[in-house]
Amino acid sequence: KPVIFSGMQPSSDSLHLGNYIGALQQWTKMQKDYDAFFCVVNLHAITVPQDPAELAARTRRTAAQYIAAGIDPAKSTLFVQSQVPAHAELAWVLNTLTGFGEASRMTQFKDKSQRNGADAASVGLFTYPILMAADILLYQAASVPVGEDQRQHVELTRDLANRFNSRFGETFVVPEAQIQTGTAKIYDLQNPSAKMSKSAETEAGLIKVLDPANVTRKKIMRAVTDADGEIRFDREAKPGVSNLLTIFSVLGERPVDAIAEEYAGRGYGDLKKGVAEVVEASFAPVRTRTEELLADPAELDRLLAAAAERANEVASRTLAHVYERIGLIR
Ligand code: TYM
Repeated sequence: KPVIFSGMQPSSDSLHLGNYIGALQQWTKMQKDYDAFFCVVNLHAITVPQDPAELAARTRRTAAQYIAAGIDPAKSTLFVQSQVPAHAELAWVLNTLTGFGEASRMTQFKDKSQRNGADAASVGLFTYPILMAADILLYQAASVPVGEDQRQHVELTRDLANRFNSRFGETFVVPEAQIQTGTAKIYDLQNPSAKMSKSAETEAGLIKVLDPANVTRKKIMRAVTDADGEIRFDREAKPGVSNLLTIFSVLGERPVDAIAEEYAGRGYGDLKKGVAEVVEASFAPVRTRTEELLADPAELDRLLAAAAERANEVASRTLAHVYERIGLIR
């Protein structure tokens, strides 16, 4: 089976709708056809300040949400990044192959460092995409299912793999980003020209998987739309309505056109109610299952440890090969 690798940061108490649609839902569909590695990237999370107790709790919560949403730990290798030392080790090697200017061109770093002031940004935040390249290359992944915002990082990963291969001989599979058209970018409900993100200024447009149903419903009912009152898909002219239609379509598993037809001539309030229903139908079982899993942290830790062992085998094999290629004696 071809290998896929993907990951999420454990940097909040709940995954959001963008994570769920852009990544997690894709992962659960792909896991039966691929040798899948899904990682909770806690080393990435510490590139910005984290409270230690919260980081530990959020690492387990993130893993629990993966499983609750349908990642089967018997099929896929679901593990925590810091439990596999090769990630940090390969990242160091790749740091030495990355140009300073090349790393400086990463738009996510530019956005994040501008938001908080360049002095507040750590060197770790700067080299973040290189650690991500290490994640992917250690498993010889052919494909990386992510949302649109990770495209540039996967491009960098490809460049680094090609560079290593041509300098030291064929070592890495050159991976491809797998970005689903149409759903790779879910927008903030209050600001439908910006992607839904946990670092948005307010949480009013952020839909969280683990929030209670009434909180989510309220946020959806207050979603920004437009003044023409027409229910049709038009990303440019009607970003708010189009975002709602996208969400409705993916979670309700119906084409956008069919939904637009059903709701033609009705108000935005009706459409929002429909969206709230499909969101709740998707999230309610995930919430319940997440709580069940978190009620038995020892069992969760055992699953994660077993997966880390498997990941370690694959990753340390690749790392040994890399060291040998470079001339780092063991
Ligand atoms: P993170 O934790 O920010 O997001 C996890 C995944 O969710 C996707 N995503 C979205 N998709 C659609 N619409 C949105 N509004 C939205 N917001 C987030 C992201 O594209 C991502 O797929 N750098 C990564 C984590 C990472 C990784 C990796 C991913 C580390 N190593 C190796 C793939 C392979 C990140 O910060 O994702």
